Amino acid sequence: MTKIYGHRGAKGSYPENTLLSFKKAIGQGVDGLELDVHLTKDGEVVVIHDETLDRTTNGTGWIKDLTLEEIKQVSAGSSFTHIPEYDEAWDLERVPALQEVLELLAPYPTELNIELKTYVFAYKGIEEKVQSIVEQYGNGRKVVYSSFHLPSLLRMKKVNPGANIAWLLNQEISFPADHIETLGLEALHLNKNIVLPRTEAAYRIMNLIGLYENIRVWTVNDPDQIRQLLDLQVNAIITDFPETAIALRDRKKTLV
Ligand code: G3P
Ligand code: CA
Repeated sequence: MTKIYGHRGAKGSYPENTLLSFKKAIGQGVDGLELDVHLTKDGEVVVIHDETLDRTTNGTGWIKDLTLEEIKQVSAGSSFTHIPEYDEAWDLERVPALQEVLELLAPYPTELNIELKTYVFAYKGIEEKVQSIVEQYGNGRKVVYSSFHLPSLLRMKKVNPGANIAWLLNQEISFPADHIETLGLEALHLNKNIVLPRTEAAYRIMNLIGLYENIRVWTVNDPDQIRQLLDLQVNAIITDFPETAIALRDRKKTLV
């Protein structure tokens, strides 16, 4: 059964990458959560999408130049007044440390996809730090490390040979199965534009047939596209609107 992963929590309806967004996505019944991590000036792993505070908070500055304490001063919710569900209480949301998200998840079996945002700054040592936090607070849950920056994933595999690593791709690669096997990837995380819309012949040419169990697709919000991916039985759909995707999957199940 295709799993539904909430993108940055439930990004379509709540402030992305906040504890509120993760809580809401869990409440909606997600199988997994996706989030993004960076390293602060004082070496803490924080959950935020961009390299700076500017877009998603009321603060400014590079994450790499700020301490966790400085980052904790800004609101991670007040920039999202354009979301219809916006509530003033969101202004109290803060940029979470990875540890806080894992503590929130502790009672739930939710899978976690940690995207290492290492393609602008390498954040030396981030792989060891993330692995150590997951070991301490992960509660044994399934964790998948993804990145557009392949060396970061290979470093993660050195730190922990048992780590699930998934390469994020914006474009097709030749012989995906060879990449999976040779690089020890658990999955490929593919932009939906690579996967949709295609005919079976196209999937054959792309060598994707038989690999769907190792493919997660992002970021899919359109109901028709979600249905197509459910038909393909990909491993997971990463979406900003997990509630909708879960409802579509449940409806499909009752029809079968
Ligand atoms: O993990 C899928 C997706 O999150 C990658 O793109 O820019 O949303 O982090 P982005
Ligand atoms: Ca991401």
